[in-house]
Amino acid sequence: MITVRLDKAKHNRDQFDCGVVVLNNYLKTMASQQAQKDNTRTFVLEDETYASVIIGFYTLTMISVDLKNLPEKLQEKHHTANTAGLIARLAVDKRYTGKGFGELLLIDALKRLLEASELVAFPLVVVDAKDGAIGFYEKFGFTSFIDSLNKLYLTINDIRVSIE
Ligand SMILES: CC(C)(COP(=O)(O)OP(=O)(O)OC[C@H]1O[C@@H](n2cnc3c(N)ncnc32)[C@H](O)[C@@H]1OP(=O)(O)O)[C@@H](O)C(=O)NCCC(=O)NCCS
Repeated sequence: MITVRLDKAKHNRDQFDCGVVVLNNYLKTMASQQAQKDNTRTFVLEDETYASVIIGFYTLTMISVDLKNLPEKLQEKHHTANTAGLIARLAVDKRYTGKGFGELLLIDALKRLLEASELVAFPLVVVDAKDGAIGFYEKFGFTSFIDSLNKLYLTINDIRVSIE
């Protein structure tokens, strides 16, 4: 299964329901507009039988990071850097949860960010986790920033090593 860029002419955004209203609303009303403005990119996983049905989605962009909220070793290594790739949103429709699609989407997002980092280097990937989803990201090696449990990071090097 592959992810594709959100296409509002093809994908049925109104049907999507992950149980978190702000995420549903972002997909319905903002994602396409934000992509048009080059502010964010949203990728969707289509149902293999009905391509208009969105199983899940994620949104990527960049974020500035305060290295002070990282362990000292990372601060030293990356002291000249101040940006990270951001998985701003990631969600699976309630009808499809518990089947591995969240994992598929997360790995797909990490691969795309790793690829992007080969062109425009940045040392970290950050996620903004909704309450209740922190454990999901920790399962895949993410660590919370010192100042915020809901904001987690993974280094590009860790991603490279685990994907290779
Ligand atoms: C969190 C979410 C993306 C998980 O999607 P999913 O398709 O159910 O996840 P998967 O089936 O791929 O699960 C992969 C693993 O993560 C675990 N997992 C799933 N949701 C979890 C959670 N909320 N906390 C801890 N672990 C979780 C699963 O048990 C599974 O572990 P296993 O391989 O040991 O069985 C989905 O429930 C969702 O969209 N929730 C609402 C929106 C949200 O909170 N998004 C995330 C932050 S913005």
